[in-house]
Amino acid sequence: MLQTIKKIGVLTSGGDAPGMNAAIRSVVRACAFHDIKCYGIYRGYEGMIDGDFVEMDARSVKGIINKGGTVLKSARSNKFRTKEGRQIAYDKLREAGIDAFVVIGGDGSFTGAMIFNQEFNFPVMGIPGTIDNDIYGTTHTLGYDTALNTVVDVIDKIRDTASSHNRLFFIEVMGRDVGHIALNVGIGAGAEEILIPEEDLGLDRLVESLRRSKASGKSSSIVIVAEGDKIGKSVFELKDYVDENMAEYEVRVSVLGHMQRGGSPSCFDRVLASRMGVKAVESLITGKSNYMVGIKNDVMDLTPFDQAVKGKSKINMELLRVSDIMSI
Ligand code: F6P
Repeated sequence: MLQTIKKIGVLTSGGDAPGMNAAIRSVVRACAFHDIKCYGIYRGYEGMIDGDFVEMDARSVKGIINKGGTVLKSARSNKFRTKEGRQIAYDKLREAGIDAFVVIGGDGSFTGAMIFNQEFNFPVMGIPGTIDNDIYGTTHTLGYDTALNTVVDVIDKIRDTASSHNRLFFIEVMGRDVGHIALNVGIGAGAEEILIPEEDLGLDRLVESLRRSKASGKSSSIVIVAEGDKIGKSVFELKDYVDENMAEYEVRVSVLGHMQRGGSPSCFDRVLASRMGVKAVESLITGKSNYMVGIKNDVMDLTPFDQAVKGKSKINMELLRVSDIMSI
């Protein structure tokens, strides 16, 4: 018998990402559209355990579609990793009469939701919110497009200094253990080299490539280094190595850090978030649970949590080839 969903909770979990607020707005308004009450859950699973809920209606989410971060805050919760913690969370949800929840986050957040569903048979749905774009089952996670545009703009600015001073810059970008951000911004900003975890360029090949760039008349170079890259040296150690072995270069380092996670979401991410929120709510009220909402070929799709959390999105090898050709 189809359980009638009357109250849906929404939370954000893990690293924040631009577009999370647009997704919260969409979940709340999709609930309102279907005459379902919606409760914001503050601070991710930690707030769920604390019963930190607030009823939200269509007006509660006005003016946030263009805001970075998450008005519901986010947190990582060790307590939720324990059965006792999840039991408390379940009891708090039941006390509030909440029948299901939508979690906006990354694979770690979905793993928590999947276990929660298994233990309590509680309906859950996931929306992929992370700038890393590292989740199987969707071509885009929320925040990824915004982060690409933020980073490519910053690299353009660094390029001004590099070309004015004939310098080599090593620029470290986020992405945890995948290279999607690095590869795309590297091509977008015309970097001479891109170091990603999925392809071990090796130090010798990097040096050879830099030497070739110099010999071809390039007066400055940009090397994008994904934070998860496995060349075996940090960007600072790469600088030291070049300082010691390549007198022809004056080297500098920029670690972009958390500015890549902030900022107003791009139109693409706002539209994606709006679509995902509707899909998540309408999937729950038609009896589906334990899925991640994703986008594939511009169509909303559902991937079972156990596949989404296990898989990793693969690097686009054609992009890799383009980056090699462009840096000739
Ligand atoms: O997952 C998003 C992300 O920004 C990663 O790219 C990065 O490695 C990590 O979060 C940083 O985590 P924290 O915000 O805990 O420092």
